[in-house]
Amino acid sequence: MTPSRRPSLGDAARGRILYGGDYNPEQWPEPVWHEDMELMREAGVNLATVGVFSWARLEPRPGARDFGWLDRVLDLLHASGVGACLATPTASPPPWMGARHPETLPRDETGAVVWYGSRNHFCASSPVYRDHALRITADLADRYGDHPALRLWHVNNEYGTACWCDTTARHFRRWLRTRYGSLEALNEAWGTAFWSQRYDSWGEIIPPRRAQYMANPTQELDFRRFTSDALLECFTAERDVLVERTPHIPVTTNFMPFFVGQDGWAWAEREDVVSVDLYPDPADPEGPDGGAWGALVQDLTRSQARGPWLLMEQAAGPVNWRGVNHPRPEGLTRLWSLQAVARGADGICFFQWRQSRQGSEKFHSGMVGHAGARGRTFRQVRELGADLGRLAGVTGAPVTARAAVLHDWNAWWATLSAGRPSSRLTYEQPLRAWHRALWESHLTCDFAHPEAELDGYALVAAPHLYLLTDAALDNLAAYVRGGGTLVCGFFTGVADEDDRVREGGVDARLRTVLGIGTVHEWWPLDEGEAQPLTPLSGADATGTLWREDIETAGAETVAAYRGGELDGRPAVTRHAFGDGTAWYLSTLPDPAALRALLSRAAGEADVRPPLPGLPAGVEAVRRGAWLFLLNHRREPTAVPLPAPATDLLTGRRYEREAPLGRYGAAVLRGEPPAPGGGG
Ligand code: GAL
Repeated sequence: MTPSRRPSLGDAARGRILYGGDYNPEQWPEPVWHEDMELMREAGVNLATVGVFSWARLEPRPGARDFGWLDRVLDLLHASGVGACLATPTASPPPWMGARHPETLPRDETGAVVWYGSRNHFCASSPVYRDHALRITADLADRYGDHPALRLWHVNNEYGTACWCDTTARHFRRWLRTRYGSLEALNEAWGTAFWSQRYDSWGEIIPPRRAQYMANPTQELDFRRFTSDALLECFTAERDVLVERTPHIPVTTNFMPFFVGQDGWAWAEREDVVSVDLYPDPADPEGPDGGAWGALVQDLTRSQARGPWLLMEQAAGPVNWRGVNHPRPEGLTRLWSLQAVARGADGICFFQWRQSRQGSEKFHSGMVGHAGARGRTFRQVRELGADLGRLAGVTGAPVTARAAVLHDWNAWWATLSAGRPSSRLTYEQPLRAWHRALWESHLTCDFAHPEAELDGYALVAAPHLYLLTDAALDNLAAYVRGGGTLVCGFFTGVADEDDRVREGGVDARLRTVLGIGTVHEWWPLDEGEAQPLTPLSGADATGTLWREDIETAGAETVAAYRGGELDGRPAVTRHAFGDGTAWYLSTLPDPAALRALLSRAAGEADVRPPLPGLPAGVEAVRRGAWLFLLNHRREPTAVPLPAPATDLLTGRRYEREAPLGRYGAAVLRGEPPAPGGGG
């Protein structure tokens, strides 16, 4: 699929910000549908995602079709000026499929069947499932391809089911044959000389099912690669059916945020529109699971999309799957929605339009909650619709980022096996801590694959890439040699793509770039253990989670370990290499120290916040000609402005500072200084 020849989000949005949510009218009597249309109009909704979980209704028994209700829904939407994001219903096969074709049901690692009665119960390798999925997809496209409401195809929903059944085993073997060509190559890659694991025929190979002790880590890694690919085959097969019938309609599938099960880089390549579902925790808006988490997911999604993207789902109030489910304090839905627009979203949607009265999600909020149109939630939904209406001019504009954080699913997957130096070290922890430090330092960053072209970035951060391919290592070396600044985190460049430890523990190319000679040992830290460091930027600093005993070979020591077995050994180093600079952080510094280090590296690379003097808790992002200011705190604040500017949301002009209320936001466009005015 050539993206330039395919329709895009802009074709679906038609110059507006898309606004709406999942709409499940089949859960309601038809008179309610008419009220829905009224309320959607009132709220400025222009997109409804329909049919996500409608398979059993559309195909009540094998081969039967019941499209009449969906005809009426799409006609109603169209008459109300609401576009349809029409879903293929293939995330939730009807009970008849599992009952008649039990082989379509997934099996877990122990071989136990994962039954129908919930959702997502399909084996991605099952030809029977795939065949039924493609038939209903084709019939939907044939019936609605020319419907005037149709704006976007939504394939399946949050692909993520893994399966360990015999059909999967056969599929896995085919995948492995393509990858390795010969059994010898597979045995070599998997290191099967260890523990007598050598395979003598392809038929002996199985998915990594429950075993007596630790499984082969490369087998596990390949099974994760395979599962992502098997699901991707399901997606592309449905996509191809849709593209063939409706070449003018873009296709998406909604990602779970920063989800381990799909190689998001590979998947995004195959979509016309990249979309994501995002549920930050309103219990602690400023905590790591609040605005910082939103920023991370949004940066990743924008980078996958390489342009505007769609927030397919968020909650207008509480979810129902956290232990304790908090509503969103007043203002937070607006703030988090505008944050998504700031970071590149051209569509803001919710799960779901009308809160269900039955089923597992009856206590999950909707845009129209149980309290109905008079509820606080719907008032905020209406207000948000008005705000988004004012931001139409922002659509299509790019987000400016001069820094990038490197992320690769293969590196993530390789960290998930047992038998590692520390079970406390997860892939996400350093990555999230580093991104949060950049976010709190007001530095906007993209995400990039370690093999991607990096020349456009003045600063590249690699928080924790345990596995790096030869191509990635060459890429990083070339980037620094050419003048880039690389900040590299611990336990990076340790394994090759087969999860084989590189000679010397860390790849020699990377050590040369970093100016590090020998890595003697890894010294992980326990829960609650903090390792003092020599002061950083004049302040006391500590490291957590990880330490390394390294010897520099050309790098300067920026901070050293203080006390304990590693007393005096280098902890943070900096090295001039080629025309660039490479930093190494062999521990996870405390948040303030990490901010200080990343800000220093960024400053030296001339990467700066969009405005000087930004207060803590305020996010500032440039998108095209607009500057978004977002206050993530309950306390009001004000942002000093270098020149007068006008707020697109309120129409107010600010001379010297922009006031931001509790969870307040402004979208500023600079103006020439007023006659006699400062600036
Ligand atoms: C998403 C899913 C929706 C709904 C929502 C609830 O993961 O796509 O269908 O279940 O979660 O938060």
